[in-house]
Amino acid sequence: MGIRHQSFLEFKQYRYLKLAVALVLLAVVAYVWHRNTRFFAPGNVGYGGTWMGYTLGSIATALVVWLLWLGVRKRRYRASSTSLQGWVSAHVYLGIATLLIAVLHSGFELGFNLHSFTLILLAAVVISGIYGVFVYVRVPPNMTDKIGEDSLEGLLLQIRTLDVQARKAALSLSDAFNSLLVNAAQDTRLSGSIFDGLGGLRLRACPTDVAVQQMQVLLRQLKAEHVVLGREVFSLMLSRQTAVRAVRLELRSMARLKRWLMWHVPMSIALVVALAAHIVSVFIYW
Ligand code: HEM
Ligand code: HEM
Repeated sequence: MGIRHQSFLEFKQYRYLKLAVALVLLAVVAYVWHRNTRFFAPGNVGYGGTWMGYTLGSIATALVVWLLWLGVRKRRYRASSTSLQGWVSAHVYLGIATLLIAVLHSGFELGFNLHSFTLILLAAVVISGIYGVFVYVRVPPNMTDKIGEDSLEGLLLQIRTLDVQARKAALSLSDAFNSLLVNAAQDTRLSGSIFDGLGGLRLRACPTDVAVQQMQVLLRQLKAEHVVLGREVFSLMLSRQTAVRAVRLELRSMARLKRWLMWHVPMSIALVVALAAHIVSVFIYW
């Protein structure tokens, strides 16, 4: 589950960007028209309480509910990746539009109150969303081509198979060869270290990298009858190295996405609570 590299931003020639821009323009025109021609007597109620205020607030709220629905939509069933891409594309652009429409709804009357707190939460969700887009766009494209856990499992299986093949091929080779294989198979860490955020700095050399390096030395010392097998084992180790790197990259990207969603989602929920309180409170103080 996930979205394809970047293409959700361009989805169907920016269909949802256009829709979002049109929606915001319409709201701005309606607001400016109403504010200048119909909003004579403010009374005790702020701009949000005028009929145009209600209209804009209701549109913003409907959009928030729809934006939340993405969480349900993602998990409902295995949605086709194209339709999911469209959903995320719409989510991103309409999410930003929601904030602008909510600001128009407030009539720019902000203060230290629950109403403005609601707006701040909305802004926080939108800003976290924009940050999330940067996180997604940085996910390596070759990884998102074969999305998420499926490709991870494939890679792990591939590594296990390579290990079995290497052990078999190395049977008649020296102990040095074999212990390199065993170390690579047993001690290679796939999950990232705590230093991953610092550019993948590792305290100990990766046993798979060590095997690749040392085998190059061992290969040169092999007797003629062992050279073919030695090369075969070496090339299996090279494949192992590639697969290990791909696994690490994938785990790191998945972790980053998960960390980000751990902000975006709870803030969305806080927003809903505050929004409900905002709506209830304006009707109580009517
Ligand atoms: C995302 C949705 C919404 C956000 C972020 C939001 C935020 C705000 C903000 C910042 C204000 C200005 C506060 C002030 O005047 O001091 C406001 C005013 C108001 N909002 Fe909302 N609002 C939303 C939706 C709604 C909805 C759906 C309704 C009604 C059904 C509503 C009713 C009102 C009313 C009546 C006011 C005027 C309050 C007053 O004069 O004290 N809002 N809103
Ligand atoms: C009121 C505004 C918003 C709300 C309530 C909201 C809510 C949500 C929810 C509930 C999810 C599903 C997360 C999950 O269940 O895994 C989600 C995902 C996401 N949101 Fe938002 N969001 C909002 C605005 C935005 C904005 C403005 C952006 C970007 C500019 C954005 C970007 C994303 C992205 C990239 C995902 C991940 C999609 C995926 O995993 O395929 N969101 N959001």
